[in-house]
Amino acid sequence: MTILVTGGAGFIGSNFVFHMLEKYPDYRIVCVDKLTYAGNLSTLKDVMNNPQFRFVKADICDRQAIYQLFEEEKPDIIVNFAAESHVDRSIENPEIFLQTNILGTQVLMDACRKYGITRYHQVSTDEVYGDLPLDRPDLFFTEETPIHTSSPYSSSKAGADLLVLAYHRTYGLPVTISRCSNNYGPYHFPEKLIPLMIINALADKPLPVYGEGLNVRDWLYVEDHCRAIDLIIHKGTVGEVYNVGGHNEMKNIDIVKLICEKLGKPESLITHVADRKGHDMRYAIDPTKIHRELGWLPETKFADGIEKTIQWYLTHREWWEEIISGDYQKYYEKMYGGREQFMV
Ligand code: NAD
Ligand code: TYD
Repeated sequence: MTILVTGGAGFIGSNFVFHMLEKYPDYRIVCVDKLTYAGNLSTLKDVMNNPQFRFVKADICDRQAIYQLFEEEKPDIIVNFAAESHVDRSIENPEIFLQTNILGTQVLMDACRKYGITRYHQVSTDEVYGDLPLDRPDLFFTEETPIHTSSPYSSSKAGADLLVLAYHRTYGLPVTISRCSNNYGPYHFPEKLIPLMIINALADKPLPVYGEGLNVRDWLYVEDHCRAIDLIIHKGTVGEVYNVGGHNEMKNIDIVKLICEKLGKPESLITHVADRKGHDMRYAIDPTKIHRELGWLPETKFADGIEKTIQWYLTHREWWEEIISGDYQKYYEKMYGGREQFMV
């Protein structure tokens, strides 16, 4: 069994590579990654010498490179994590999101049609459903919730999902899609809420909360997401979409306060800044289908997961210090430098 994992040098993809190599020592795992700002080869250093693992630096939009890789490796299963993944960056520059997230998906699926595979799995997001109102805690995203996107990022992910389902119906490609809620855990890139707050708090820097911080996200420990994808590619039904989430909704402000408490930092570091444009209010997944059909349940409670995550950032300083010493500084200055304060 050969599994091609795209975007495996990023946050969730790398955790998936580790999960698969450990659980299936006889599988061959081939990782293809363009190594954008979000991809980090140092993340994969512990598996680079594993004979069951191969890393290939390539862009999923590069048809020639992808076809050549399929010819060499003849993968059975493709799991596509490769994407531009940050909403704020998509607001600044949507184009690369459409290129990688939609056209890259197309190239991968064309390769699947040309060379033949048993499964193409698309790693999607709950953000394709848009958002839910804060005053309707009874509402959740199911697989039947209409696609209704807010950001260029979520629109590009939704476009890819529609294309994946179209390749199934039109060409009979054996596809599955997972739509997961917000992940957290090791190797999460420092531009995202949880790692950004941990790293800033450690340096006693301001903690920039968008608007009032009342927006709700449904947080899942990354290993639980990896286990869900593992189940779907082995036991999921072709042509189906599976929502993945652990009913762990939290307001942003409460997460940031919790991080302050855990690190022994004062809440006075919290700085309310201008809100994100088009900011989604609430995400909340109904994971009934994946539980009922595949028996999936989350294993890590948020209280344990956040503790493990904070410990990981404390013990892996060299990983994130290298990242934040480079272009990240320019990104941070651009996004947060002139951002006006938000009065609460
Ligand atoms: P990430 O930004 O940490 O990693 C993305 C990886 O893709 C990086 O290694 C990057 O180098 C690579 N990449 C980008 N463009 C590429 C290209 N053109 N060709 C090859 N490689 C390319 O992202 P992540 O948080 O790990 O997310 C992985 C996937 O999971 C994405 O598809 C995202 O939409 C989805 N997802 C993420 C979350 C979350 O909370 N992070 C939740 C649900 C779904
Ligand atoms: P993020 O980690 O970017 O994930 P997503 O937008 O895909 O859910 O952001 C999570 C939440 O945290 C979102 O409501 C935006 C908010 N946020 C802040 O308040 N401050 C920040 O500096 C960042 C990066 C995010």
